[in-house]
Amino acid sequence: MSQPLGVKIFDRIASSYEFTAKFLSFGIMPYWQAKLIKPIKGGKKVLDLACGTGILFPKLAKKFKTVVGLDYSLPMLKEAKKKRLKTYLVRGDALQLPFRNESFDTVVVSLGLRHFDSIDNALSEIKRVLKPGGELHILEVGIPQNPLLEKLFLTFLKKVILPLGRLRAKEDVYNHLFGSVISFPHREKLVSKLLHLGFSEANYEPVMGGIVYIYRARR
Ligand SMILES: C[S@@+](CC[C@H](N)C(=O)[O-])C[C@H]1O[C@@H](n2cnc3c(N)ncnc32)[C@H](O)[C@@H]1O
Repeated sequence: MSQPLGVKIFDRIASSYEFTAKFLSFGIMPYWQAKLIKPIKGGKKVLDLACGTGILFPKLAKKFKTVVGLDYSLPMLKEAKKKRLKTYLVRGDALQLPFRNESFDTVVVSLGLRHFDSIDNALSEIKRVLKPGGELHILEVGIPQNPLLEKLFLTFLKKVILPLGRLRAKEDVYNHLFGSVISFPHREKLVSKLLHLGFSEANYEPVMGGIVYIYRARR
């Protein structure tokens, strides 16, 4: 498999991903994740898509009988394996999921969607593998709607996150980190994509003024 750009960066930082992510979010990432997972009602089988190092596995394992984690990055999956949790790990591409139609009750994508080469393809694949009535829960970095907060946040991304990214990654990769936030279909745009693809319900909620958003949809 040739490595997409949105995977290269994680191959490089896999062993320090959890520390880096917590550090760059000033330690508030666990709060976002708790908000994402808490309202999920649970069931038989969940897919943690772009699971990375499996940061969500312990929380998902409390709600689901079977937890499947899929990621494209082998180094990230190796970190996940070290957690020795009763989870199925699959190396694969979100744009071509190696699962049968209607095999999951729930799909969760935490901070993964904006890294995919085609968000539309990934969402179609998610819909295909979800059972009818199944739920999709997405956490993604956003852009605050308040103009002052938006300016502050974009300055923070440019002046803090990008220079830090430069230390560990090459030009194309750190450009991706910023570009993927700017070009992401935020808020109503993602909701209408989901409805257009045939999800029966979709909504979003801003977290911390819109630094991140949680999107929830039903097939
Ligand atoms: C920011 S990490 C998120 C990891 C984890 N979900 C979390 O919340 O910490 C993004 C993950 O998306 C994965 N990824 C990017 N493109 C992918 C693709 N096409 N298919 C599967 N995983 C992909 C990367 O390898 C990386 O592990």
